[in-house]
This record gives sequence, structure tokens and C-alpha cells, in this order.
Amino acid sequence: MKNILITGGAGFIGSHVVRLFVKKYPEYHCVNLDKLTYAGNLANLSDIENYPNYTFIKGDITDGPFVQNLFSEWDFDGVIHLAAESHVDRSISNPMEFIMTNIVGTVNLLNASLATWKSNCDGKRFYHISTDEVYGSLGEEGKFLETTPYDPRSPYSASKASSDHLVRAYSHTFSLPVIISNCSNNYGPYQFPEKLIPLFIHNIRNRKPLPVYGKGANIRDWLYVEDHAKAIDLLFHNGKLGETYNIGGNNEWKNIDLIHKLCDIMDQRLNRQKGESAQLITYVKDRAGHDLRYAIDATKIHNELGWEPTVKFTEGFEATVDWYLSNEEWLNAVTSGEYQKYYEQQYVKR
Ligand code: NAD
Ligand code: DAU
Repeated sequence: MKNILITGGAGFIGSHVVRLFVKKYPEYHCVNLDKLTYAGNLANLSDIENYPNYTFIKGDITDGPFVQNLFSEWDFDGVIHLAAESHVDRSISNPMEFIMTNIVGTVNLLNASLATWKSNCDGKRFYHISTDEVYGSLGEEGKFLETTPYDPRSPYSASKASSDHLVRAYSHTFSLPVIISNCSNNYGPYQFPEKLIPLFIHNIRNRKPLPVYGKGANIRDWLYVEDHAKAIDLLFHNGKLGETYNIGGNNEWKNIDLIHKLCDIMDQRLNRQKGESAQLITYVKDRAGHDLRYAIDATKIHNELGWEPTVKFTEGFEATVDWYLSNEEWLNAVTSGEYQKYYEQQYVKR
């Protein structure tokens, strides 16, 4: 039995990773360490919470002594680190949370791994989940490669870039066995409705305005979350130590085109007239420092490990819409309370 630590497992991507690992690897005991911030939700894992090879621990990765004690108790064989503050808009209004969790929290995990594994690193690995945003913003041409120089431009991406550098520094300086992956925008079930797709599904359902930043001309490369989880599984087991891998959907969409596609699907699903949901589109002040375009070149992971996205965008997108529409309770629960305050600050007072 191997003990695997998954941080941030109650969040969007983390919950898909935990589910995959708990079901696929009965020989692993998966410990999900999560602070349960506004973005963490144990309802995301209700289907696997009673599996014998799964344990949830509520805790904060910024608390160094707590993290060290956890490692002493569980003697982890591997770490998959997803816990983070992840929303760019929140990093603009409150950068410090991002510095603490994304940088200090990552260093606490690196220190605890090093202290636990220093006598023998055989078979151990620290896998850090990062983002394509560390590479900055692209013009109309080109894609991010693993060798693209870092150029983070928001407090979120700067904090993720710092954590990537620290993970690499622990590999070079202390020979800690690490792997990093940088992924493009994920979509799918259980994403918190502050991010574009679930936010707009929620607003369309409730006939609320759809706040499109700037001209809606920014471009993102969308990947179905389960394809990301499969890439994480592959890299955790077969990725080369010390290496970085890009993961992406090869699926670029201009925001406004994606939003129109969403509106069309929502019109059908809600039996509204064609064009009705699109009338909710409202152009609002742009995000400060809004990166124009992200696009990932995922040739390396494809050539080395045979990974490629398996879910076609139209299928994944429709399945995502259907999931949110048939999980109204989940959506209502996460959009009550604190969410209202956030919404007011982010959009109404904008
Ligand atoms: P999320 O915001 O949905 O979930 C983050 C989780 O981390 C939550 O469960 C939260 O409670 C937990 N957390 C936050 N601070 C913590 C702390 N101090 N201690 C312990 N737990 C804490 O994020 P996500 O979208 O699932 O992203 C997961 C990871 O993947 C992040 O590292 C993010 O940078 C990266 N990533 C996300 C995307 C994307 O499109 N969502 C793309 C590429 C990379
Ligand atoms: O690229 C990977 C990154 O993707 C991850 O590292 C981040 O954790 C994740 O949040 C995501 O960042 P984005 O900023 O690209 O995602 P978001 O869903 O916030 O926005 C997607 C695009 O839609 C972006 O160009 C901004 C725009 N947008 C977003 C919101 C929330 C709007 O026009 N209106 C909105 O209300």
C-alpha cells in the first residue's frame, strides 16, 4: 500500500483527480488535504467519500508545522499538489492570499517532502500542477512550449510561476524528485461558478446579464477536466523526473464565440427561443492586465507518453451544460452566502 497525498482535492480539478486515483488504484491510500476555502467542497466527492482507500483531512498548507506533522504521520510516497488560489480576478483584488497559498504553501510541502524522503528518494515523487498562464500572453500566432520563457502578468500567474521556480530549485539544489505540468483552461463538472463557463450557465439559467470583459476577443485553449486528470495520472506514474510537460486541448476559442455557442445550447436545453440567451450578453470593463491569448503545444507529452485529449469539444461542452442543469442543488448551494458578496464586488460595483 502506498500513501499518496493529493492537495486541493475538494476543488474542481482536484476532485476529478481524487476520484480517478481512488477508483483506479485500490493499492494506494489517497489522502486529500484541503482547507475547504470557498472553492473547496466535499460534495464534489460524495460518491467516493466512503471508499476504504480514501481519507479527507481539513488543513491549511500555509501552516508549516501542521504540514510537517502530517508527513510524519503518513510517510507519503508521492504528492500531487493542486491546492491553490486559482481565480485571476480574485488575485487582482487580494494578491496576498495567492502569495501565501501558492508560494508559501508550496514551499511548506517541498520542505516536508524533503525532510521525509531525504534518506531515500527511491520511488518518491512530488508532482506540482501548474498553469499555462506562467508563460504570459501570446499574439495571434504561436503556442507555448515547455521552453517558452516565463512572463507571468497577473498576481495569480506570478504566484504560480514563483511556485514552479521553487519546485525546480528544490530539484536542482536538493535532488528532490519532481515533475511539473502546465495546463490550459479546464472545463467540466464541479467548477466553481466564478469561472467563465459555470458562471455564464448559472446566469443564463437565472436570466442575469453575462458580463463579457472588454470586447470578448481574448482566446483560451479549453480542455475537458477528465482529460487533464488522465494526463496527471500518466505523468505521475511515467513522467520523467525533473521535467516539465505542457497539457492542452488544442482547442482555441475566442471568448465571444464560446459564449454564443453556450447561449445556443442553453436556448435548446431551456426551451427558449433561439437568440434569447444571447440577449443577456453585456460588455463590461475589461479585466486589468487581461492576457490576450493562451495556446498550448502539447507535443512533448504526446510523443513521450502518447497522451492526447479524448473528449471532443462539442460533446464535452454539452455534457458540461447538462451536468450543471441537472445539478441545480449543487449550484444553488455554492452560490448562496459568501458568493453573493463576491458577485456584488466583482460585477455590480464594477
Ligand atoms: P479550485 O480553486 O477549484 O480548487 C482549489 C482547491 O484548493 C480548493 O479545494 C481549496 O479549498 C484548496 N485550497 C486553497 N487554499 C488552500 C490552502 N491554503 N490549503 C489547503 N487547501 C487549499 O482550483 P482548480 O481550478 O481545481 O485548480 C487546481 C490547480 O490546477 C491549481 O493549482 C491551478 O493553478 C491549476 N490549474 C487550473 C486550471 C483551470 O483551468 N482551472 C488550469 C491549469 C492549472
Ligand atoms: O489557463 C489556465 C487558467 O485558466 C488557470 O490557471 C486558472 O486557474 C483558471 O481560472 C483559468 O484562468 P482564466 O482567467 O483564463 O479563466 P476565467 O474562467 O476566469 O476566464 C476565461 C476568460 O473569460 C478570460 O479571458 C476572462 C473572460 N471572462 C471571465 C469571467 C469570469 C469574462 O469575459 N467574464 C467573466 O465574468
